[in-house]
Amino acid sequence: MSDLHLVISTYAGLEEVLADEIRALGGRDIDIHTRAVSCTGDKGFMYKANFSLRTALRVMVKVSSFTVSSEEDLYKGVMETDWSAYMSVEQTFAVRCILNSRLFDNNLYPALKAKDAIADQFRNNGGARPNVDKDHPDLEVIVFISKDQCQVLLNSSGASLHLRGYRKEVDKAPLSEVLAAGIILLSGWEPHLPLVDFMCGSGTIPIEAALIAARIPPGTFRKSFAFEKWPDYDDELNKLIKDKQLERIVDSEVRIYGNELNKYVLQKARENVEAAGVEDMVQLSCGDFRDFNPDLKRGVIIINPPYGEKLEVDDMEKLYAAIGTKLKHQYAGFMAWIFTGSPEGARAIGLRPNRRIKLFNGPLECRLLGFELFEGKKNERHLKKEV
Ligand SMILES: C[S@@+](CC[C@H](N)C(=O)[O-])C[C@H]1O[C@@H](n2cnc3c(N)ncnc32)[C@H](O)[C@@H]1O
Repeated sequence: MSDLHLVISTYAGLEEVLADEIRALGGRDIDIHTRAVSCTGDKGFMYKANFSLRTALRVMVKVSSFTVSSEEDLYKGVMETDWSAYMSVEQTFAVRCILNSRLFDNNLYPALKAKDAIADQFRNNGGARPNVDKDHPDLEVIVFISKDQCQVLLNSSGASLHLRGYRKEVDKAPLSEVLAAGIILLSGWEPHLPLVDFMCGSGTIPIEAALIAARIPPGTFRKSFAFEKWPDYDDELNKLIKDKQLERIVDSEVRIYGNELNKYVLQKARENVEAAGVEDMVQLSCGDFRDFNPDLKRGVIIINPPYGEKLEVDDMEKLYAAIGTKLKHQYAGFMAWIFTGSPEGARAIGLRPNRRIKLFNGPLECRLLGFELFEGKKNERHLKKEV
């Protein structure tokens, strides 16, 4: 099987975590870019990447790359590929352009030029032009122009891979599944330790943690991937790859706790936990985090407290200060991670973070703050160690 050049996209800040995942899955020639990681692998690897990567948004296959200095170059460059190898004239397609170049004023015109090149090639060869379907194309072509370099890529995933398929009910501010998985992987949590999310919303962090603990591939819940419509799709190979990945699932004894104040939101979390089939690993409860006291000596806390337009700064500072107090008094010996887009909230926690990781939630710059919660005073602890 010949090698494919893959470009796998993710959120800003998760590139290294994604590269680790790709390495563990068997990808080669790994290179880290902004919001993407490139690698090589065969067709089976591409299927596996779609099925098993937790921090990938889209797995794209490189078709060609060339230098552009004008729209004519772009048209000619796209024309050089034999598009009948990737779709039939009866199938639909769409072209999206990602522009990081001053060569064009906006991304619409280059997308149109590339679309014309593909459609014209079919017409030149046989008469008919394939139809464009922007919403549900059989083949999505991505034209990525950076300075004077153009890469033509095929989206093998289809809809973004954060849409795992287990989240039936969506709360107003749910965390993207990919971001939740990325945060958990960045935290370094290992399933032998209990994990607590005492503001769990629709349950994304507990569910993604359970999937990691039991090694359940995130693609398990997905109905389809775009590559299944490609002319060279190998159903037997795909089944084999999926079976191999599913064989890795383990019975995990992990203990994951999710708590949520709002009972309607908690009900959504329950439905999502059930849809993901991780009820045995995730224990949910309803109430204020101030009254949530699981009987645990050690563990990892990962929370995503509210932030944003709905909360007054005053209320937010009070909430974050209460979180800080709770962490200090009840969770000594734990490692706590707080993901927030509120600098005021972060300051109000009143604890000094040992780790600060810049991430984005959509366009909003956020921080993942890590706190090592020592038992007793930090200095006392060091002294005890030296004695
Ligand atoms: C940003 S959302 C968390 C979203 C969640 N990570 C998800 O994926 O759905 C913050 C959650 O904290 C909850 N919350 C706010 N105050 C709380 C409190 N005092 N105790 C427990 N939960 C609280 C809110 O109801 C909300 O669901």
